[in-house]
Amino acid sequence: MLRIENLEVAYGKAVALHDVSMQVNDGELVALLGSNGAGKSTLLKTISGVIQPRSGSILWNDQEIHTLPSHKIVALGIVQVPEGRAVFPELTVSENLRMGSFARKDDTAVTGDMKLVFDLFPRLKERRRQNAGTLSGGEAQMLAIARGLLSAPELLMLDEPSLGIAPVIRDNIFKVITQVFEERRITILLVEQNAKLALNMSSRGYILENGKVSLEGKGSELIDNDYVKRAYLGY
Ligand SMILES: Nc1ncnc2c1ncn2[C@@H]1O[C@H](COP(=O)(O)OP(=O)(O)OP(=O)(O)O)[C@@H](O)[C@H]1O
Ligand SMILES: [Mg+2]
Repeated sequence: MLRIENLEVAYGKAVALHDVSMQVNDGELVALLGSNGAGKSTLLKTISGVIQPRSGSILWNDQEIHTLPSHKIVALGIVQVPEGRAVFPELTVSENLRMGSFARKDDTAVTGDMKLVFDLFPRLKERRRQNAGTLSGGEAQMLAIARGLLSAPELLMLDEPSLGIAPVIRDNIFKVITQVFEERRITILLVEQNAKLALNMSSRGYILENGKVSLEGKGSELIDNDYVKRAYLGY
């Protein structure tokens, strides 16, 4: 279980997160919504240990993690797929995937997971010898997610996996996310601009506005909320 308490994060004098508290229970898919600049990526980066908070705490299974370096946080099973399809362009698809499993010692399980991600994303299998830098945007996003899965996460944090991706590929990516969530019982924290898509698939959601949590609730409650409808669903 991930528990965030009274988190404050600043870039120099500019405060990006004010007093943020939230919780992601084991086996939940939690959506994090908010407009551009609301602080969503900042929150994920702080959980991953890329950014240190100014105050507040982040607990993973009751252990404080906000003081740990990012590689130790990954080793605890908290894996972030960052915004913007981050892949190693000079490495092939297969090599990128192996980077994801770098810290794992269970070779048999890694081989099984490699097979799993190729089944989930047949396009990556077709292109496994191709340099990642030559993939299309959608393919690179698939690779970034697949690499995240290969690090055997307990908590997978996805930062806008559908950004700039054609609807067909986006649907495929979300199908895979749902499948992995259901079959592998991975806990997921999903940042997504498409509020309808995100709330429909999530157990609960949080809305972040100007660095503060302005609303939280079950996915089904938020989707019926008048304010959410107006501000995020466009009707
Ligand atoms: N490295 C940085 N230095 C200074 N300010 C930053 C830095 N990164 C982010 N910010 C600022 O912090 C605020 C939150 O940014 P963040 O990237 O977390 O927003 P976001 O919710 O992920 O937005 P988007 O939907 O556009 O990705 C913004 O005002 C942004 O300009
Ligand atoms: Mg962002």
